[in-house]
Amino acid sequence: MPDAVQIVEVCPRDGLQNEAVSLPTDIKIELISRLVGAGCTRIEASSFVSPSAVPQMADADDVFRGLRVTDGTDMIALVPNERGYDRAIAAGCRSVEVFAAATEAFSQANIRCSIDESFARFAPVLAKAATDGIRVRGAVSVAFNCPYSGPVQPQQAIDVAKRLLAIGCGEVSIADTTGTATADQVAAMLDAIARELPVTSVAMHFHDTHGLAVDHVLTSYAAGIRVFDASAGGLGGCPFSPGAPGNVASESVLAAFEARGITTGIDTAAIREIGAWIRACLNDPGNAV
Ligand code: COA
Ligand code: ZN
Repeated sequence: MPDAVQIVEVCPRDGLQNEAVSLPTDIKIELISRLVGAGCTRIEASSFVSPSAVPQMADADDVFRGLRVTDGTDMIALVPNERGYDRAIAAGCRSVEVFAAATEAFSQANIRCSIDESFARFAPVLAKAATDGIRVRGAVSVAFNCPYSGPVQPQQAIDVAKRLLAIGCGEVSIADTTGTATADQVAAMLDAIARELPVTSVAMHFHDTHGLAVDHVLTSYAAGIRVFDASAGGLGGCPFSPGAPGNVASESVLAAFEARGITTGIDTAAIREIGAWIRACLNDPGNAV
């Protein structure tokens, strides 16, 4: 039997952060609980960032307070700094993600500081997490192409990923934030990952501009990657990456793995329904808050 994969379902965070409509908190909580019901065990649930930077995530505290997290479920919150970490822990979160950029220009646009400064902000987060027994994941944004400074050399992203692992992240997610990676770029990145990183600590995060994201997922699987970020309904994008398309749709990723006999533990039909339901919620003017 081929190796199983883990899907990190990012719809409640990456999916909803880029929508013009902010959904009510109870719908976000229902989304997360439906995803758990469909078999998702790892979910990016919200982000404790500045509410003026990303108003769609301003209710992260209430989302986490409203969740019933069972043992064995990795309910992840993005935190950009110590303040975000403290908010997350106060709301009951036990798993956080820090995010750095592969380029200086995107770091400035997204988190308003240099890459070095972002690592200075992560230091107290990792220190507290070590003491508190909190799981920490890292992410490298714009690992392939930057909307401000153009193509990114794999080494640039790998260096940032290495730093994230070195400060204590247990896993690092390599993100095609702009959804523009070509097959050649993905192959070059996978080669660099195989040479320079522990493959078992790497996740891939694709957005889907040109319909290539599922192919990129399968190529990454063939190269030994076993963790993939994906979003129900293909929702998603970064507000600081102009024109960024949706994340690769979880239902497409699940169907592709299922067709190859690769176990995900997630019910594809249920995710398809959840994707349609959350899209309907976003289109319902009665849900605008
Ligand atoms: N939670 C809530 N508010 C926060 C915060 C946090 N974790 N960190 C900072 N803030 C608030 C500050 O209180 C301040 O508020 P004010 O304007 O009302 O005084 C404001 O945000 C700016 O704070 P500052 O410390 O000067 O940070 P900054 O201007 O350098 O911004 C970030 C840095 C990281 C806080 C901000 O850019 C951000 O939240 N970015 C997130 C981007 C994102 O989520 N992108 C999508 C994910 S890829
Ligand atoms: Zn993303």
